[in-house]
Amino acid sequence: MEELSAGVIERGLQTRIVGRRVVYYPSVGSTNEVGKEAVRRGAEEGTVIVTEEQTTGKGRLKRAWLTPKGNIALSVLLYPPSERLYHLIMLSSLAVAHTIDKMTGLKSEIKWPNDVLIGSKKVCGILIENDIGNGFVHAVIGIGINVKLDPAASSDFLAAATSLNREAGREISRVDLVRTLLVELDRLYDTLISSPHELYEMWSHRLGTLGKKVRVTSGDEVTEGVAESVGEDGSLRLRLG
Ligand code: BTN
Repeated sequence: MEELSAGVIERGLQTRIVGRRVVYYPSVGSTNEVGKEAVRRGAEEGTVIVTEEQTTGKGRLKRAWLTPKGNIALSVLLYPPSERLYHLIMLSSLAVAHTIDKMTGLKSEIKWPNDVLIGSKKVCGILIENDIGNGFVHAVIGIGINVKLDPAASSDFLAAATSLNREAGREISRVDLVRTLLVELDRLYDTLISSPHELYEMWSHRLGTLGKKVRVTSGDEVTEGVAESVGEDGSLRLRLG
């Protein structure tokens, strides 16, 4: 299997902010937890924490996120203006979708708010943790990509998830995958700052959710309806029923 390291990811990377510093762990609990600790220690914006195995990875809605060896889990530290925090879900899911386009030629779609699917199966999950402490806005953007599936995974998991290797029918280079993703995140971060409406337009066009019947969970509340539109703040409007 291809060797991952901070050095091979950083070499000649043409980015402005994302990936200024890359920290690699062969295995770690959760890159988001390491990222939050790095923020507390004053890490610079654009720092990336990357691993190929998480032992206590976290998903949305307090779920666990499995990252068995050979996959990619990374967290990026961004310090945007507070009025742009909503746009981070757009930035991150679009960057992953563009990266999949470039790496595999396959068409992926975004499931609101920021899952990325290929052929209606989940290939990437994103967990963004924001904080505005003492007026200092910071976000830890955690991205987990299934590069190869664990053959021991449960049939329930395999019914809902897929991997890049499986969909592409070949082994995807994780070094190229991470480097392409960092370039896309960096490019779209520029758009987020200079032209957030453009980012919103690109994201909403890539959403596969609109027009479909969906079930949205918020805390203990579950709402069902048809997804009609999304707002500039990332919110989903449902026709109930
Ligand atoms: C979800 O779909 O529920 C979100 C999954 C987010 C997983 C990523 S992997 C990198 C980062 N570190 C974590 O512990 N979680 C996020």
